[in-house]
Amino acid sequence: MAIRTKLNDLLGIEHPVLLAPMAGVSGGALAAAVTQAGGLGQIGGGYGDADWLGREFAAAGNARLGVGFITWKLAQQPHLLDMVLERQPVAVFLSFGDAGSFAETIRRSGSKLIMQVQTLEQARAAIDAGADAIVAQGTEAGGHGGSRATLPLVPAVVDIAGELPVIAAGGIADGRGMAAALMLGAAGVLCGTAFFASDEALSPEGAKAVATAASGDHTLRSSVCDVARGLDWPGAWNLRTLRNHFSDRWAGEVESLKADAAAQRDIYASAAAKGDFDTAAVIVGEGVDLVTRREPAAAILTRMVTEAEALLKAAPGYVAAPA
Ligand SMILES: Cc1cc2nc3c(=O)[nH]c(=O)nc-3n(C[C@H](O)[C@H](O)[C@H](O)COP(=O)(O)O)c2cc1C
Repeated sequence: MAIRTKLNDLLGIEHPVLLAPMAGVSGGALAAAVTQAGGLGQIGGGYGDADWLGREFAAAGNARLGVGFITWKLAQQPHLLDMVLERQPVAVFLSFGDAGSFAETIRRSGSKLIMQVQTLEQARAAIDAGADAIVAQGTEAGGHGGSRATLPLVPAVVDIAGELPVIAAGGIADGRGMAAALMLGAAGVLCGTAFFASDEALSPEGAKAVATAASGDHTLRSSVCDVARGLDWPGAWNLRTLRNHFSDRWAGEVESLKADAAAQRDIYASAAAKGDFDTAAVIVGEGVDLVTRREPAAAILTRMVTEAEALLKAAPGYVAAPA
């Protein structure tokens, strides 16, 4: 038996679970492992580094994959889109910014266009841009995001999306979350935090250890880490991380941090290089309570879909396919 939705058909996958294209974390090995387990693995193109992308596509072998970009950053280096389209990804995932002409380029290439949104206004823009699927991302998510919560955002996006599949993201890290998302009308889920500490993830070992011991009580959204990394993020989005000494030190003092940016960037970069997570951020979302051990990505995905299926068996809209 398996959970089948229109997302399975759109992307040619067995389970409607997508790996979030996490910058620096979702490399080729993790993406391939998720695809191998029946979901869709996506490489995290992040801020855009051609060598890194080439290496991670190679590491994925010939697995079917998606690839994600931070849209406002891609706009500064559009050639990276052509580079990845040559590798014929199943999907290109755009988040955080206006898709502009990228939408048409992706559609013409034959790859599906998945757009992640944080508001209804952005969802309408994604529909108008011709997205093949929309990810409704709630504020619970690890990484960058907005302020609306997953529970009310997902059904509101479903209501305006018509036939387009809506994928829920933000705080979904086990079968209970997946089942709940499907009950909200989502056609699938996109998970980042759930895979952050997986064996195949590129997250530093020390960060995996911190994440598996951490609680969602201790995450926050802030721009402190972006300022410290010298990243010029548009104000509509900020970053959810675990709180640490550095984020507590600068909380509410972003302007002072900016004033001392050069020195603080050095401090932050050297902490990140050393794996000092009192200063460098561990980027996970509220779902981190449910991430309690290191394990293979396939184990995480299989447990999630098995548990969701058991919970949903009697639910309306559930379609069981023959084993
Ligand atoms: C470590 C980490 C890095 C992320 N990097 C990106 C990114 O580069 N681009 C992007 O669109 N989303 C990124 N995200 C957000 C994910 O796309 C997704 O919305 C989020 O992981 C879903 O919520 P969850 O973390 O609760 O599963 C990142 C998330 C995490 C945890």
